[in-house]
Amino acid sequence: MKLITAIVRPEKLDAIREGLESYGVQGLTVSRANGYGRQRGYTQVYRGAEYSVDLLPKLRVEVLAAEDQSEDILDILITTANTGRAGDGKVWVIQLDEVVRVRTGERGTAAI
Ligand SMILES: Nc1ncnc2c1ncn2[C@@H]1O[C@H](COP(=O)(O)OP(=O)(O)OP(=O)(O)O)[C@@H](O)[C@H]1O
Ligand SMILES: [Mg+2]
Repeated sequence: MKLITAIVRPEKLDAIREGLESYGVQGLTVSRANGYGRQRGYTQVYRGAEYSVDLLPKLRVEVLAAEDQSEDILDILITTANTGRAGDGKVWVIQLDEVVRVRTGERGTAAI
């Protein structure tokens, strides 16, 4: 099992959700995040000097995936989050030891 975490543009959430839901993903977690990548937020020029401005608002989308669905879900996230412009975000995948559905106590893939 994998934990797939995507840092994405907030305005891309609907497209991402639609993509994941049509694939059959049954749950996800979305939280607000702030961060920067290689452009360090964005830059402004003030009186000839360039300043890096701030942490940009992003969303963190987390999806639990069974081993055999992980690549598909990763592809869906990358495709739906992409605009081709700097700041589209980043996705990473972490190997998971265990998942538990709290109500039933089911474990592993059955708990996803
Ligand atoms: N190395 C990193 N570690 C953790 N989070 C990161 C990292 N790089 C980017 N992020 C997160 O992803 C968000 C979007 O990053 P961004 O898409 O700007 O990455 P980038 O590497 O600068 O790529 P690009 O050149 O396409 O902009 C950042 O605001 C930050 O929240
Ligand atoms: Mg960037």
